[in-house]
Amino acid sequence: MTKENSNIYPVFDNSVSRREKELLLNQKSKIIWFTGLSGSGKTTLANALEKNLYEKGFLTQILDGDNIRSGINNNLGFSPEDRMENVRRIAEIAKLLLNSGVICICAFVSPTEDIRNLVCGIAGDEDFIEIYMSTPLEVCERRDVKGLYQKARAGEIKNFTGISAPFEIPKNAALSIDTTNKSVEECVNILLDKVLQEISL
Ligand code: ADX
Repeated sequence: MTKENSNIYPVFDNSVSRREKELLLNQKSKIIWFTGLSGSGKTTLANALEKNLYEKGFLTQILDGDNIRSGINNNLGFSPEDRMENVRRIAEIAKLLLNSGVICICAFVSPTEDIRNLVCGIAGDEDFIEIYMSTPLEVCERRDVKGLYQKARAGEIKNFTGISAPFEIPKNAALSIDTTNKSVEECVNILLDKVLQEISL
């Protein structure tokens, strides 16, 4: 705590508890956290999962790298320190959603164990479901949906994950999904198998 904020006294025992909010929404809130290389399918699956869960009556909120980085985190780059701060803020937002009873679907490269452990530490182990999008680099690079791999290879983007910055394979993922030869629907079904039991009251 810095000197400036040492006189702050946060109160976390809300008048309406998380449990009551979960009962209201008829669901258990969780953080479903997609980690993986750019182009591995995080955003696509986050969106498809949200749509499917909505149709089943679950309330979700997506937090996604490109969106968050163009808003609340638009002052952050891709150095290891900035990535850590990026994810720290996101984890705090996800925790607010968690305490509102909302299922929070997060899609961030979150490339290192340290970064993912930070989220888990803020959010709490029991509420954190880590999904590793294990689509190989060659496939992500071949897709190159945003043209970023080409730029990274040309040296126009520094610290690009998978090319000039590391990605550490998660050790504690609840699930690994390689989207190379799977349809979005197949991937969503794999996800539902894991997630439905965790979010159902
Ligand atoms: S994280 O590493 O801090 O978790 P985050 O998920 O927010 O990254 O943002 C990744 C997105 O930013 C990628 O999908 C890509 O579109 C874009 N991006 C731009 N520069 C980089 C870079 N150097 N490394 C990785 N992604 C980058």
